[in-house]
Amino acid sequence: MEPTTTLRPITAADVSDAQALTASFGWPHRREDWALMQSLGQGVVVEQGGRLAGTALCWRYGDDWATMGLIAVAEALQGQGMGRRMMLALMERLEGRSLALHATRAGLKLYSGMGFEPTGTVVQHQGAVSQPGLLPLPEGMHLRPVTRTDLPGLLALDRDAVGMDRTPLLAALLQMPGGIALARGGALAGFALVRRFGRGQVVGPVIAPGLDGARAMIAHMLGQRTGQFMRIDIPKSCGLSPWLLELGLDDAGSVIRMVRGSDVPAPQHAEMFALASQAFG
Ligand SMILES: CC(C)(COP(=O)(O)OP(=O)(O)OC[C@H]1O[C@@H](n2cnc3c(N)ncnc32)[C@H](O)[C@@H]1OP(=O)(O)O)[C@@H](O)C(=O)NCCC(=O)NCCS
Repeated sequence: MEPTTTLRPITAADVSDAQALTASFGWPHRREDWALMQSLGQGVVVEQGGRLAGTALCWRYGDDWATMGLIAVAEALQGQGMGRRMMLALMERLEGRSLALHATRAGLKLYSGMGFEPTGTVVQHQGAVSQPGLLPLPEGMHLRPVTRTDLPGLLALDRDAVGMDRTPLLAALLQMPGGIALARGGALAGFALVRRFGRGQVVGPVIAPGLDGARAMIAHMLGQRTGQFMRIDIPKSCGLSPWLLELGLDDAGSVIRMVRGSDVPAPQHAEMFALASQAFG
């Protein structure tokens, strides 16, 4: 007799099994990384014969948007419709919102068949970082640590650059030490956050008015972590790749950004140079 397959909401008690599932594909998420992602989002799991066999999560941003990620089915059970079933269950709960995700090669066919359209490429850079050297700051700007009181300014810049209201995400990431602000007088012009993730630390999001400001913040951050394993996921079009490669952050592969529904409006004053993560956007 075939073991029964059930679909139900994910809970914090699933995090250990879910982390083991994604580790089986070589994904680097630690238990703590999974716990953060689960606590900020919603999701479903499939169980087969009482064992966790698949996960799919989403993060709601404001009233209009959600991103989807951590979509995974145990290798032995792939190709049996579980990925599609979990996606449909989540999409039903996200009715009326535009949806964005970052597709691996394995996921492209599934998402294309569900109305997601490719909109760009994201490159994952990672490695042991070498000393970036001194970089000039844009005219009239300086760097300083971000503080918790910067949250409203961060949110305004993030909304402009990303086109989504990511308040819960940024409030959580701001709790983690090491963030840098790019300031013009008393006004915030950009920011870069950093946190422990996977094999080392991840830099992101990075939001800046231009390439020079983004590079200055990232250089400052990497300069304090020379020799350490760092990861940064960037839109391919942002222009940072050649410099990151010089610093020892190798190209570890790409994913395709896909959107279902109308895409975000074009940014006005700030641009996204690094994602918070492929799942968070
Ligand atoms: C991507 C993934 C979640 C799909 O889950 P799944 O349960 O295997 O997918 P489904 O059985 O629901 O199939 C969905 C579609 O993808 C196609 N598909 C599934 N596995 C496939 C494979 N190995 N090669 C080609 N197509 C495949 C199916 O044919 C189906 O399309 P169709 O309905 O038009 O026939 C799963 O392969 C997986 O976990 N991969 C590793 C992790 C990963 O990369 N996740 C995606 C992150 S964005």
